[in-house]
Amino acid sequence: MIAALAGFFLWRGRILTDDTQESGKKILRFNGFERFAHWMTATCFIILSLSGLNYIFGKRLLMPLIGPEAFGALAQWAKYSHVYLAWPFMLGVVIMVGLWLKDNIPNRIDWAWIKAGGGFIGHGHPHAERFNAGQKGVFWMVAGFGAAMGVTGLMMLFPFALLDINGMQVMQVIHSLIGVVFIVGILAHIYIGTLGMKGAYDAMGSGEVDLAWARAHHDLWVEEQQAKTASGPQFTGRHPAPAE
Ligand code: HEM
Repeated sequence: MIAALAGFFLWRGRILTDDTQESGKKILRFNGFERFAHWMTATCFIILSLSGLNYIFGKRLLMPLIGPEAFGALAQWAKYSHVYLAWPFMLGVVIMVGLWLKDNIPNRIDWAWIKAGGGFIGHGHPHAERFNAGQKGVFWMVAGFGAAMGVTGLMMLFPFALLDINGMQVMQVIHSLIGVVFIVGILAHIYIGTLGMKGAYDAMGSGEVDLAWARAHHDLWVEEQQAKTASGPQFTGRHPAPAE
């Protein structure tokens, strides 16, 4: 996936906001609680990924490099973090699903977005609501894989509570396979949220994005926000737009 993303970056470059320059006006995209839930989940996910990969590949890949003693100490910490960080991760997934479910129900606009290549191919920006079809894909991947990882993980965390040894082995295989696919999917998400698209990170960083960026990538959502109130209290106006 890293090689594929590097290839895509070389071919496509950074997705820019085209002809629209920064307006200087900001619109709130994610509030403090939403960002807290996202970053709590994201931090746990990264540590769970590394410690999870260590269970499977550490002995063969890492131990020859750092020696058995250092690997033993590291693997023990990795095991503790995997078992304990699973809880805030599951909580984070539940919160994000609760917060964003209503904005992630697929509809006809998503189909048009997919047919237009989502703005990845070519340089146009197809219509999108709060989340476009690609982001809805990320949302449902996180909800589905998050639930599957949670259930299979709990079966291993509480051995023999519900399953016998054969059942637990099946859970382990499912947990590892989905885990790897989940990591691959999230790598693509991290790429588009940072390097891949100019201005995207601000949405989860400060929570505010430039109005021109929002209009280009989520035009229908901006219209909806503006319709909610004519005076537009969503705009912080910290950087007023210069007079033409
Ligand atoms: C360092 C890692 C990460 C970065 C830089 C990052 C960045 C972002 C950004 C910028 C957005 C907002 C996009 C928008 O304007 O709508 C976002 C949304 C989201 N993130 Fe992350 N993220 C990271 C890791 C994760 C992880 C590990 C998960 C879950 C396991 C996750 C789940 C989500 C979900 C469900 C959304 C909302 C849907 C979407 O916009 O795709 N993120 N992320």
